[in-house]
Amino acid sequence: MLKERKGAYRCIEVTPQPSGFGAEITGLDLGRPLPPPVLEEVKAAWAAHGVVAFPDQPLSLEAQEAFTEAMGGFGHDPYIKPMPGHPNVLELRREPDEKATNFGAGWHSDWSFQATPPAATLLHSKVVPPVGGDTLFVDAARAYEALSPVMQAMLAPLRAVHSARQSYGTKGVFAKDTEKRTMQIIVSEEADGSLTHPLVRTHPVTGRKVLFVSPVYTVGIEGMTPEEAKAILGFLFAHLTQDRFIYRHRWREQMLLMWDNRCTMHFAEGGYDGHLRLMHRTTVAGDVPV
Ligand code: SIN
Repeated sequence: MLKERKGAYRCIEVTPQPSGFGAEITGLDLGRPLPPPVLEEVKAAWAAHGVVAFPDQPLSLEAQEAFTEAMGGFGHDPYIKPMPGHPNVLELRREPDEKATNFGAGWHSDWSFQATPPAATLLHSKVVPPVGGDTLFVDAARAYEALSPVMQAMLAPLRAVHSARQSYGTKGVFAKDTEKRTMQIIVSEEADGSLTHPLVRTHPVTGRKVLFVSPVYTVGIEGMTPEEAKAILGFLFAHLTQDRFIYRHRWREQMLLMWDNRCTMHFAEGGYDGHLRLMHRTTVAGDVPV
């Protein structure tokens, strides 16, 4: 996390997580429009901490939509059917008897295969299982800073190839699903395409450099053979997912979690077969990674 000056927040209370990555924000009601100074502090805390949790926020869909709009407007969520009447809200629902792998069970930064991937994702917990269902986050800025200067210099000019093909493509994991799934996933030829982003991006607010790659959506490195890219990406994925860079988020019901896709990646853990898990998810539009 960034060093914050003492008394940085006057309108909200920000409690950093003991691991030093992520924070809890209290002292506000997200069910109502936030006055501009409060919103500015929320944005500052989100940029500083990467993953911010707002406990005890029993939000309606409309309130979550309004807060998402206030944070910067909706992102575009492809390949999953949205909630009826709420084109910008996805329902992440897994029924107690569902056998299909839970959604999000692989390290990724949301929709990094888009030209302008979402800056933020907001997830609101409606039903939390009594066991399992945590979400894990990697601090990809701290992981970058822990690399040697020689490795940082080697990575600096590289562009990583991102694609949705391993998940939503015609030969991806969802195309091969044999178990019934409540969420309606749209497998598509469009997902087989790819584009490139800087392998090391600079966070537009904090100015920190970040490793912008993930096992789910990064499928190569521009100009390298598949074997070369596999070796470098394999090292980076192992480096990123060390315990020292991870924050484990344990859910309580009616909690809103907002993470910064520009400097984190995340993984939704399973372990709750036999129990319902139900979340509402929105995204905030982002910029072209540079
Ligand atoms: C996701 O990857 O967006 C899902 C996270 C979760 O369900 O915890």
